Amino acid sequence: MTNIKKICCIGAGYVGGPTMSVIAKKCPDIQVTVVDLNEARIAAWNDEDVNNIPIYEPGLSDVVAEARGRNLFFSTDVEKAIDEADMVFISVNTPTKTYGAGKGQAADLKWIELCARQIAQVAKSDKIIVEKSTLPVRTAEALKDILHNTGNGVKFQILSNPEFLAEGTAMEDLDAPDRVLIGGDSTLEGQEAVQALVDVYANWVPRERILTTNVWSSELSKLTANAFLAQRVSSINSLSELCERTEADITEVARAIGTDSRIGPKFLKASVGFGGSCFQKDILNLVYIARSYGLQEVADYWEQVIIMNDHQKRRFANKIIQTSYNTVNGKKIAFLGWAFKKDTNDTRESAAIYVADHLLNEQAQVAVYDPKVEANQVYGDLNYLRTRDAEENKAGVSVFDDPYEACKGAHAIAVLTEWDEFKDYDWQRIYDSMLKPANVFDGRNLLDSKKLRAIGFNVKTIGSSL
Ligand code: UDX
Ligand code: ADP
Repeated sequence: MTNIKKICCIGAGYVGGPTMSVIAKKCPDIQVTVVDLNEARIAAWNDEDVNNIPIYEPGLSDVVAEARGRNLFFSTDVEKAIDEADMVFISVNTPTKTYGAGKGQAADLKWIELCARQIAQVAKSDKIIVEKSTLPVRTAEALKDILHNTGNGVKFQILSNPEFLAEGTAMEDLDAPDRVLIGGDSTLEGQEAVQALVDVYANWVPRERILTTNVWSSELSKLTANAFLAQRVSSINSLSELCERTEADITEVARAIGTDSRIGPKFLKASVGFGGSCFQKDILNLVYIARSYGLQEVADYWEQVIIMNDHQKRRFANKIIQTSYNTVNGKKIAFLGWAFKKDTNDTRESAAIYVADHLLNEQAQVAVYDPKVEANQVYGDLNYLRTRDAEENKAGVSVFDDPYEACKGAHAIAVLTEWDEFKDYDWQRIYDSMLKPANVFDGRNLLDSKKLRAIGFNVKTIGSSL
């Protein structure tokens, strides 16, 4: 069973969609079917106009245009795709639990379990199951349990193959990954399954970049990689506050430490705080696991990364309020950006949501513009917090599809996402349309503050003048 002919991927989201598109592109002999319960999402993936696919990711629509209908298919027929596949990737969402034991920390494995049960029910031949979603350590054990106890006597091998792509650069990351990680059992069958997946990736990834480990190491490595990355952001953000009180400038400090080859230059951009579906969730997971083993110090150590991030978001919102003579009541505050980073339409855990929530508590009027995020997403994100009801969010927030309209008559502008286009705006025109003093709070240190100050703006940046 080492020669894979058909792959099924359950979950057509930010991970499953791009990953399977690249596998289909690189392996024309393998038939790849991506399935999802969400009919609207699948319909969008199948839209004749590839610009309407549900996920915005630079370069993705070209690959979909090339492979779709050839060896890449999107379908809601989950059972058929499972039945036909030699290898099934599980790429469904695993959000943090919002109820019961482990609430706010542990991952909700409801959807994973549902997948496992469905696979167990449908499978009539041996299959390799690949965990692609980020999962807490030892999830494979639970999967194994369900598959082996509810199945029809068919054999399953379970592999962990965590995704390291970052949104916004997913296609490059998939095309030329730093490494591919595959964890499997040390038994003969386990190793055969590992080899089968190695062979898929070897179609385009150099063999020395494909690392194989045991299942648990692979699962833990994913959490650890994200925890280390998030820790760098929280570390630099913690120092940004110190810089604001002293004569040091965080951009200069970051450059100075980043040139130390042991530290390296990446992931040292001070910001309003990290977001995204992985960082917070994975760290909370790590914290939960450590606590459940009674490792209090380990848990506290990692939890501090989240505490720092929450502090940074709150601090940013508070600065806007303080600068507005301690009241934003009824004032229009324009948000440039809502996505958690540039080049994606994903808004999960975006700092913008929390900054907006804080300002809405102070009765501000928030005006949002984001080049790729639609109004219903913005309202959905705020409603999900349940701080206030949908009516109130509707009354407090307006979403614009023109940035100049969003900024017109505003007391302040807050930059929440580092979209390149913001740099090229006609800032004189924006200045002329705003109330004075015209404040800009650059939560991404994106704009040319010298230029803006010359126009007349009062500019506050993270880590120097916030
Ligand atoms: C992350 C990991 O990078 C990726 O390997 C994993 O597979 C999934 O989680 P992603 O969430 O897509 O990817 O985005 P990432 O580029 O890591 O950024 C996360 C957050 O940190 C963003 O909000 C980003 O704006 C912020 N960030 C990043 C900073 O504030 N400063 C930095 O220097 C880098
Ligand atoms: P990620 O960023 O991890 O890809 P997403 O939320 O974007 O997360 O995508 C996960 C997808 O998985 C969603 O489109 C959801 O509808 C789908 N999904 C969840 N559970 C199942 C299931 N049991 N069968 C099929 N699809 C599922």
